[in-house]
Amino acid sequence: MLVVADAWMWEGFDQLFDEERALGERAVQKRRRELAAGRHAARAALEQLGYAPAPIARGTHGMPQWPAGACGSITHCKGFAGAVVAHAREVRSLGFDAEQAEPLKPQLIDLILSASERAALGPQPRRTDWGKVAFSCKEAFYKAYYPHARQVIDFLQVHIELTSGADAGEFRIELVDDAVPSAAGLRRFEGRWLCDGDRVYSACAVL
Ligand SMILES: CC(C)(COP(=O)(O)OP(=O)(O)OC[C@H]1O[C@@H](n2cnc3c(N)ncnc32)[C@H](O)[C@@H]1OP(=O)(O)O)[C@@H](O)C(=O)NCCC(=O)NCCS
Repeated sequence: MLVVADAWMWEGFDQLFDEERALGERAVQKRRRELAAGRHAARAALEQLGYAPAPIARGTHGMPQWPAGACGSITHCKGFAGAVVAHAREVRSLGFDAEQAEPLKPQLIDLILSASERAALGPQPRRTDWGKVAFSCKEAFYKAYYPHARQVIDFLQVHIELTSGADAGEFRIELVDDAVPSAAGLRRFEGRWLCDGDRVYSACAVL
């Protein structure tokens, strides 16, 4: 289930549960708006799965605490916030990410993609670049990965393969550093990406 935040959700900081508002108490207005948009979108998505409204607390390293029996993921960037949720009996975890479509800053590329990953890339996507797509896909993967391993990992500890596509495609990620624990017994994961010209969106599910 996907819910994209409406205007009221961005404005709805005061309508959050007390413990959610506490997460943004010392935050600047921009952070309060995205916190509200993400939490309201997630709650609306959970309601569509049959969950009564309840606070979505923050766990370790920023991970949202989903209600028992559910999993999900939240993302926000300029002009967009949304959440995806699913029943945990169907999906073990989800990762969702949205980024502005403008190309990744050149100085970041070496931190995001290894030389071998870069060498395997096909022609650039039409409305963004591979750097930004890879960044988004690795972040979406990380959000699905973290709830299992509870470990922060680096972009270069995984290897990504991105299928060539003008505006959308698939990705495969493998944990290539032996020091990185597997997630749910898995070391290979899959997901999809899409660019609408304004933003790159990516999603990953651990099944
Ligand atoms: C967590 C992280 C991925 C968020 O990405 P981002 O583009 O900065 O921001 P987004 O808006 O897309 O996502 C933020 C949301 O991610 C979720 N999130 C944060 N930490 C998380 C974690 N450890 N696990 C799962 N979800 C997490 C939260 O819901 C957060 O929103 P909230 O604070 O309003 O609840 C990023 O900040 C980060 O810490 N990255 C470092 C690790 C990493 O990406 N490694 C790459 C490994 S391949």
